[in-house]
Amino acid sequence: MNNKTSLVLLMLSFLPRMAAAPPSYCFVAFPPCSKDGLVVFGKNSARPRDEVQEVVYFAAAEHEPGSKVECTYIEIEQVPRTHAVVLSRPSWLWGAEMGANEHGVCVANEAVVTREPASESEALLGMDLVRLGLERGATAKEALDVIVALLEEHGQGGNYYEDGSSCHTFQSAFLIVDRNEAWILETSGKYWAAEKITEGVKCICNQLSLTTKIDAEHPELRNYVKSQGWWNGDSDFNFSEVFSLADDHLACCSGRESLEKQGGDVSAQAMIDVLRDKDSGVCVDSESFLTTASIVSVLPQDPSFPCIHYFTGTPDPSRSIFKPFIFVDDVKLVPKVQSPSFGNDDPAKKIPRFQEKPDRRHELYKAHEWARSLLENDQDKGQKLMRIMLDLEKQGLEAMEDILSRTEILDPAEVVDLFYDCVDTELKFFK
Ligand SMILES: *[C@@H]1O[C@H](CO)[C@@H](O)[C@H](O)[C@H]1NC(C)=O
Repeated sequence: MNNKTSLVLLMLSFLPRMAAAPPSYCFVAFPPCSKDGLVVFGKNSARPRDEVQEVVYFAAAEHEPGSKVECTYIEIEQVPRTHAVVLSRPSWLWGAEMGANEHGVCVANEAVVTREPASESEALLGMDLVRLGLERGATAKEALDVIVALLEEHGQGGNYYEDGSSCHTFQSAFLIVDRNEAWILETSGKYWAAEKITEGVKCICNQLSLTTKIDAEHPELRNYVKSQGWWNGDSDFNFSEVFSLADDHLACCSGRESLEKQGGDVSAQAMIDVLRDKDSGVCVDSESFLTTASIVSVLPQDPSFPCIHYFTGTPDPSRSIFKPFIFVDDVKLVPKVQSPSFGNDDPAKKIPRFQEKPDRRHELYKAHEWARSLLENDQDKGQKLMRIMLDLEKQGLEAMEDILSRTEILDPAEVVDLFYDCVDTELKFFK
């Protein structure tokens, strides 16, 4: 090694650690790209391969004045009323990778890397902000306002992974969707910008995507970047250009083309197909990361129809099935997709954190592990099983299409145990 190389290596070792963000993908399709007055939302959550995600429902609730809510790492003021939410989340944390609320708002987040190192100090996680936005926002715009206000007040930071040996931190991007509009929100520390979308197809992934079309921003954003010398104030203000690292580019959304090719016909099925595609890279299955859970939501623009949210609750959407959930009062809970709870003994709650990794697998996850190994090791039996699984999924999708094409109002009793029954049926295949 010559002196020059060793000097470069020495310099590299002093650079802040910029781990690659897990390559999750989120999509939204509006008319005229999507089917008859439907907004279609989807996300694949790429996370460390062995991390378990659970699907959990929390009913709407009233809270006493002065009460607090304990998020993953910090406690913050509670609000008087929280909306009912359904979440897909890594089982060790409070927030969520993605989810929906009773008002037809969907939120998903992405870890992104910007030119500013993300904070290791424990604050709110991007995932906490997903849940807080859903619990507190009755529209996409309200959820956006909630998230940026909490970002200003508490900041973002802390370990993104259940890992006691090293702290993995990221900045956050969000896709926030309701029946009428979507917001792409991108953040760096407490600074942020957002773009409003009302038509066509949009995709976000683990790179910044906002450029010069900015519809809302932190009031001090431009002064801040000028003071840092990142923007001269004369050229067009381009958010990605200002905040991206030099080697990042905006070419990550291969799945968008396949959605656009559907030409006016993006449905739940089309979104599911995009999320299942491993060749495009949208369905991640690499050495370090796996798509550990997925969601697809169909939001009818006509508010007299219910929103339908499909969750896998299991890893690898190409080997999982999407099961429908509809918000109704007294919806039947599904303990079989919920991870065991360790209360205050959870190593995620104790300091130093993550000294042990408890077994967080839920019943569906364990049974599905068997199915995944069958698919891997026994072609014939595996394919037969996959056909049976896809048949169940198809029945669910057809039943939901039927609900969306009726003229009479949906009877809540009809769907109160919808997700429960689908999970139960799926489990019966895995014995
Ligand atoms: C904004 O910056 C990005 C990254 O440098 C670049 O690829 C893109 O073309 C720019 N967009 C506009 C509208 O200037």
